[in-house]
Amino acid sequence: MLRALQGADWALDARARARRIAACFHERFAGEPELWARAPGRVDLMGSHTDYNRGFVLTLAIGRDTWIAARRRDDRSVRVHSMNLDDGDQFLLDDIAPVGGSRWCNYVRGVAATLRDEGLALTGCDAAIHSTVPLEAGLSSSAALECALATVFEALGGWRLTPERKALLCQKAENQFVGVKCGILDQYSSCLGRAGCALLLDCRDLSTRAVWIAGGIRVVVCNTMSPRRLSGGEYAQRRAECERGAAALGVSALRDATPEMLAARRGELPEPVARRCEFIVAESARAESLALALAAGDRPAVARLCAESFAGARALYEICSPAMVAMMDAMLAAPGVIGARQAGAGFGGCMVALVDAASTDAFRAHVQEAYRSATDVAPEIYAVEAAPGAEVFEGGAKGGWWARQDSNL
Ligand code: GLA
Repeated sequence: MLRALQGADWALDARARARRIAACFHERFAGEPELWARAPGRVDLMGSHTDYNRGFVLTLAIGRDTWIAARRRDDRSVRVHSMNLDDGDQFLLDDIAPVGGSRWCNYVRGVAATLRDEGLALTGCDAAIHSTVPLEAGLSSSAALECALATVFEALGGWRLTPERKALLCQKAENQFVGVKCGILDQYSSCLGRAGCALLLDCRDLSTRAVWIAGGIRVVVCNTMSPRRLSGGEYAQRRAECERGAAALGVSALRDATPEMLAARRGELPEPVARRCEFIVAESARAESLALALAAGDRPAVARLCAESFAGARALYEICSPAMVAMMDAMLAAPGVIGARQAGAGFGGCMVALVDAASTDAFRAHVQEAYRSATDVAPEIYAVEAAPGAEVFEGGAKGGWWARQDSNL
């Protein structure tokens, strides 16, 4: 059901998508939505697991996004329907408790509870939700949902949050209400994304720098189709190992550890903590280096940095699965590939390649075939464009915004 909806052509055509969402809204709630909000997923180009170590990440908010069509209610209740999951939820703004299991509606409830606890005036609403961000694939479908929903509450409530504050509140919802101790990467990307460029995010001071990718290079996301879940213990374990490493090195976060410091004190660190530290220190530096290499169009440097990142993810941080290794082989053997590596938290999900733009179709065809014959699984491959962060948009069939979207997809 989910895949059928996501793979359907209508979902990638902005007008058709809006018509379907409006029809769903009408069927579930009667009448018309009064506002529309969207927030993008993201793919990290470099900087695996550096965010919670206060390091650098090079990230791209992507054209795959979550749309919410909403209308206010006067009774302080919230009713939502997910088109992707064909599932709904309903709760009162003054009585929000998590539901059992790791259900998607906890992201909705968590955002509402967190904004309310900040003292922001919330209005009840009916909302139909549709996403083109594949779920559990490492492209931040949950952050896209959180940030789109916060944007709905913001618009209905008549107040404004800076994108930075909105991102931090959505992260708080995920950390404290849902119970997933993610870093800031996903929500920051979803709120601060910019059309046309990647962002170099400094996770210490939370500043971002726009990075324009040189012409002729495309970002292509390759989905292994093996799902990953952050609530699994591995992510929390990596975080704890990094904290142990930072404490042993006497720094507040691994951001402050240097390669020299690590080399001098490596013997004092237990394994695998030493390996985790080695990866993070190098990976954060690579995020800054890749920003320079992509802006300059320095293809050999892009290739080298991506190869080092994947090698470290495999041997030092140990977040690679057999499906990821098979995908890496398929990507590296494909025509037009410049560099390829893991994306998101690892442990399956999506990977990312930087590809010669003129060879994108040939790259896609090769990876489809090579990965399928190696694993018996058909991958999904998305060439992605940099997209703007969370925003309210014109949802009627009125024109301007749709024209921009259709030309982006
Ligand atoms: C997940 C988390 C992020 C980040 C990445 C790994 O996507 O939500 O905060 O830690 O993994 O870089």
